[in-house]
Formats: sequence, structure tokens, C-alpha cells
Amino acid sequence: MPKTRPGDVYALGDHRLICGDCRNEAVLAKLFAGKPMNLAMTSPPYAAQRDYDDASGFKPVPPAEYSGWFRGVADALRAHLAADGSFCVNIKEHAESGQRSLYVKDLVITLVRDWGWRFVDEFMWSHGGTPKTPQGRLKNGFEPVFHFALAPRIKWRPKHVQHQTDDVPNWGGRHPSQLDGLAMKGHRQRVATSRAQGQSYKETGNPARLAPPSNFAYPSNVIECGKNHEALGHGAIFPVALPTFFVRLLTDLGDRVFDPFAGAGTTLIACERERRLGYACEISAAYCDIIVQRWETLTGKKATRA
Ligand SMILES: C[S@@+](CC[C@H](N)C(=O)[O-])C[C@H]1O[C@@H](n2cnc3c(N)ncnc32)[C@H](O)[C@@H]1O
Repeated sequence: MPKTRPGDVYALGDHRLICGDCRNEAVLAKLFAGKPMNLAMTSPPYAAQRDYDDASGFKPVPPAEYSGWFRGVADALRAHLAADGSFCVNIKEHAESGQRSLYVKDLVITLVRDWGWRFVDEFMWSHGGTPKTPQGRLKNGFEPVFHFALAPRIKWRPKHVQHQTDDVPNWGGRHPSQLDGLAMKGHRQRVATSRAQGQSYKETGNPARLAPPSNFAYPSNVIECGKNHEALGHGAIFPVALPTFFVRLLTDLGDRVFDPFAGAGTTLIACERERRLGYACEISAAYCDIIVQRWETLTGKKATRA
């Protein structure tokens, strides 16, 4: 028997968790208490493909009804998202009768054409996929994340997701477009020569052979998540690195990040680590117990029930 009851609100330090249906406006009003969210990051149910907690009241959603079912979520987010906020959705459609279902594409188009969201970009993150004998198609090795916003100007912090590298030339503070062709060519030749000799800048330390690295590069929209799936009693969690990426890219310290389909609370864990305020909604009382336990184990603190 779960300790959580439907309607319970927990304080996990400065984070908040509610057990309820995120399509219900009253549930979200209770969770947010009038505060705007800076980012919504989530992975909603994959139509009728996954079984979650039968006792939660969640009913698998037929693909043909998916966009209509999602309307409540989109409306709630519109009501509670800051004007420069973002909404990121990780979901991938299945295949049936020898072809990919189109319900995710339908959802993206409906969000933009019918409900007025802006489609900022599509990201992808890769994972090993589940090994199986290929029958008509290869195993799934990636998942997309669709990034939406309400306004053209969004909170955007690409410097927060830069990574250290030897591969980026030091342009002396200039943009590459300001360099003439010869300077570019000279740099590329030095890099190629050093690489052919199996050297990196760190090894040669010699600017004549390889221009010093600027040390930091911007990532692409393919997100490296590594293999860090945790076994937590929930069968469909994403790696912490995934919400961490979007939390860094699209929010500042202390901002509020909402996950309407919280599952085992992975987005909230990313918020705890990145010093953002996590707001989570999960329909299953048993999964809420997992979220509380997971946060308490990470922090060594005690959650309190309001
Ligand atoms: C794909 S899982 C999310 C997993 C999560 N990203 C993680 O890493 O832990 C989707 C979750 O949505 C929950 N759910 C389904 N319908 C819901 C609803 N209407 N309101 C809130 N949660 C719901 C399910 O119980 C399930 O735990």
C-alpha cells in the first residue's frame, strides 16, 4: 500500500510534488500556488504502449485520441508558463502493422497549428536500444525531444551547456566569419597535421603546430546522455542527464521547472542537483512514494507532507 494518497502535496526541501492528474487545473493550481514556471520538461505516456501503475487510474491513450487527450496538458502549461518559458517533450511513437504510428507528428502539428505554440527545435538523445531480431526495421536507438515556446524570445543559456574540448580553434575572440580564408585554412592544416601525428594541443603545447583550443564548444542538438538508467521500480525513466541538459540550457539558478508526468522524479532530481526548484505532478501514488524516497536518499533530508 503506498504511503501517498491522491491529492497529497509534498515539500522536498524547496521542491514540490503533488499526487494527481496534471490535466486537472485544480491540481496544478494547488501545486503552483500562483507561481509561474520557467520550463516544463517531461516525458508523457507513450499512448497505449506502456503499462504504468494500474492502481493509479491512468488509462492507456489510443493513438488516434492522443492529441485530444494532450489538450488539457497544453492548456495548463500555457496558463502557468512564464512568457519567456519553454516546454520540452520527450516522446517517440511505436510501429504497428509494419509502419510507424503518426500520433507524435500529429501532436507536434496540432500544438503549433491549432494551439498556437512555437516549434523551436527538435533534439535527439541516443541510447543502446533493446536488442532484438530485426523484423522490418532496426531497433530504436534514439528518442526525440520537441522544444516549444509561447513567444519568439525565450530564456536561452547556451553557455551553460558548453563542454570542454581540444577541437575548437582559438579565434582570438573573433567570430569565425571575421577570419579571412587563409587564416582558416592555416588553422585547419595545423589541426589536421597534429591529428595525423596523433597529437592534441595538450600534448604538443606548441601553437605553431596546433592553435590553442578555446577549451569550450557549444553542443549540437544531439544530446549525449551516457548510460545512467537507474533501476527504481519505474519501467520508463529517462536518464538524469536529459532534463539536466534542458534545465541548464533554458533556465537560471533558482528558476522553477515543472514535470507534469513525473514518473520516478528524474526531472526533480536534476533540479536538486542544478539548484533549480522542481515542481512535479504524478498520478500514481506508488510512483510518488518512489520520488520521495529517491530525493531523500540523494539529499539525506526528509520530505514533509502538507
Ligand atoms: C514516461 S513516464 C515518466 C517517467 C519520468 N520521465 C522519469 O524519468 O521518471 C510517464 C508517467 O506519467 C504518469 N501519468 C500518466 N498520466 C498522468 C496524468 N494524467 N497526470 C500525471 N501523471 C500521469 C504515469 O504514471 C508515468 O509515471
